[in-house]
Amino acid sequence: MSYYALVPAAGSGSRMNDGLGSSAPKQYLPLADRPMVLHSLLTLARVPAVERVFLILAPDDTNWKLCDASAVGPKLTVLYCGGESRSLTVRNGLEAVAKVVAADDWILVHDAARPCITVAQVEALIQSDDGDSNFVGGLLAVPVADTLKRARVTNEAKPLSWWVGDTIPRDGLWQAQTPQMFRLSVLQEALARVPNVTDEASAIEAIGLHPRLVESDSMNLKVTYPCDRKLAEMILRSRLSS
Ligand code: CTP
Ligand code: MG
Repeated sequence: MSYYALVPAAGSGSRMNDGLGSSAPKQYLPLADRPMVLHSLLTLARVPAVERVFLILAPDDTNWKLCDASAVGPKLTVLYCGGESRSLTVRNGLEAVAKVVAADDWILVHDAARPCITVAQVEALIQSDDGDSNFVGGLLAVPVADTLKRARVTNEAKPLSWWVGDTIPRDGLWQAQTPQMFRLSVLQEALARVPNVTDEASAIEAIGLHPRLVESDSMNLKVTYPCDRKLAEMILRSRLSS
């Protein structure tokens, strides 16, 4: 049984748009001395159990060839088969890797936009497989710390106002992160049956299975907005200097 990482990196990063006209998708923006995408690739390749790291790019990607990825080493395979949505990128990637990955091998899907992942966190996910026959896979996640409000939108005021509708009890709520680890065949089947999902676990749940939650921390943030990039920069720099 083998472990493979699959990194979807075919997005456009529309929510990162800072209005300054920066052209590269967020995964190529500079972050702690290198393009963002390289951080995850370097970490995943450093996990001894991970045999290969598949990077899934948009078919028309022109930025990757400008990156020096030599430090990632020989585990890296680059595939230009990304799709219109994250889930389509993952599905296309799985189809491509199925030529070299066995049906019951484990695939760890990890967002290129989560550059602060650590080797220890990836290993904790891999080791969460306790051999129990009910284990279908798992994901890194963090218990929700804040009080959650559901907004009620009104159009009465200009500009658009947000008001509290109600409070959602946070007991038992976790924020899903990546990597998310499932067997190739199970993941392919789940995503074929439930294609419109924002993470792999949602598809697995929708076919009636229960992934394991592996506790992570909020430093494994997804860079979505410009302020997230600043936080990621601080986290990565603090590790470089320690
Ligand atoms: N992704 C992908 N293919 C897509 C869309 C997203 O591979 N068609 C990838 C992104 O590159 C990123 C990850 O999925 O690594 C998580 O997606 P998200 O943070 O939403 O990134 P974007 O879709 O690029 O950003 P936005 O939604 O703000 O446009
Ligand atoms: Mg997106």
